[in-house]
Amino acid sequence: MDFGLTGKRAVVVGASKGLGGASAVALAMEGAEVIALSRSGTLPDGLAPEVAARMSARALDLADEAAVAAFCDEIRADPVQILVNNCGGPPAGPARGQTREAWRKAFESMAMPMFALTDAALDGMVAAGWGRIVTIGSSGIEVPIPGLVLSNGVRGAIAGWSKTLAAEVAAHSVTVNMVLPGRIATDRLAQLDAIRARNSGQDMAAVEAEARATIPAGRYGRPEEFGAVVAFLCSQQASYVTGSMIRVDGGATRSH
Ligand SMILES: NC(=O)c1ccc[n+]([C@@H]2O[C@H](COP(=O)([O-])OP(=O)(O)OC[C@H]3O[C@@H](n4cnc5c(N)ncnc54)[C@H](OP(=O)(O)O)[C@@H]3O)[C@@H](O)[C@H]2O)c1
Repeated sequence: MDFGLTGKRAVVVGASKGLGGASAVALAMEGAEVIALSRSGTLPDGLAPEVAARMSARALDLADEAAVAAFCDEIRADPVQILVNNCGGPPAGPARGQTREAWRKAFESMAMPMFALTDAALDGMVAAGWGRIVTIGSSGIEVPIPGLVLSNGVRGAIAGWSKTLAAEVAAHSVTVNMVLPGRIATDRLAQLDAIRARNSGQDMAAVEAEARATIPAGRYGRPEEFGAVVAFLCSQQASYVTGSMIRVDGGATRSH
C-alpha cells in the first residue's frame, strides 16, 4: 500500500532514538522528508542510506522555551504537513508529595512545547487543507501506571487537549490523533525496568519476565511496530481517523 507521503514534510520530536526515532524512520521509508528533533541533534543509528537521505537532524531542547519559539517561527514560514509530537519521559515517582516545581517542570517540558509546535504547524495545514498531527502518549492515559504520576498526570492533560483540537480542525482535513505505547523496548523502558529492579530487589530478567506476563502478546513491542502505526495515521488512507487514541500495547490494556 502506498501511504501517499512522498515529498510531504514532517517534523518528528524526540526522534534521535526510541519511539520518535522509529516514527521518523517509518515516515522517511514512506517517502516523507523528515526533520528529526532532539537535544543531541542526531539521527537514529543504523539507517539505510536511502532513508537517511530523507532525514535531517536538528538540535532542540523542548525545555528551552526560546528555542521552541524560534523553531515555531521557522515552521510558520516554511510549513510542514505532518507533526509527530513526542517528549522525554519525566522522572518516576508517587502522586503523594510531588513538589510544585516537579509538576511545573514536567508540564513545561512535555505539554507546553507540544501545544506551541502544534499551533505553529497548524497555520500551514489549515491554509493548505491537509495535515496530520500525531501525539505519542502512554497507556498510562487509560490506566494510570503506578509510580509514574508526572507522566500519568501531564499526559492526561495532553489527551484532553488532543481530543479538543481534533474537533476544531477536522473540517480542514487535518487529523489529530494519539498513539499510546504499552511496553515498547526502548532505552526509556530499560531505565524504568532498572528502577523497578532496584526498588524491588529483583534482577532485570525477573522484572522483565513479570512485565511480559501482563502482556497477552507475551513480549515487549518493537519500536518499528510502533512507528508503523504512526506512519499509517499520517497516511492519505487514514483521512477519516481523527480524535482517536490508538493503543500499541500487545493487548495489555484490559478495557474496551
Ligand atoms: N517505550 C515505551 O514503552 C513507552 C511507554 C509509555 C510511554 N512512553 C513515552 O514515550 C516517550 C518516548 O519514549 P521512548 O521510549 O522513545 O524514550 P527514549 O528511548 O528515551 O527516547 C526519547 C527521545 O526523546 C528525545 N528527548 C528527550 N528529552 C528531550 C527534550 N527535552 N527535548 C528534545 N528531545 C528530547 C531523546 O533524544 P535526546 O536525548 O537526544 O534529546 C530521544 O530521541 C516518552 O515520553 C516516554 O515516557 C514510552
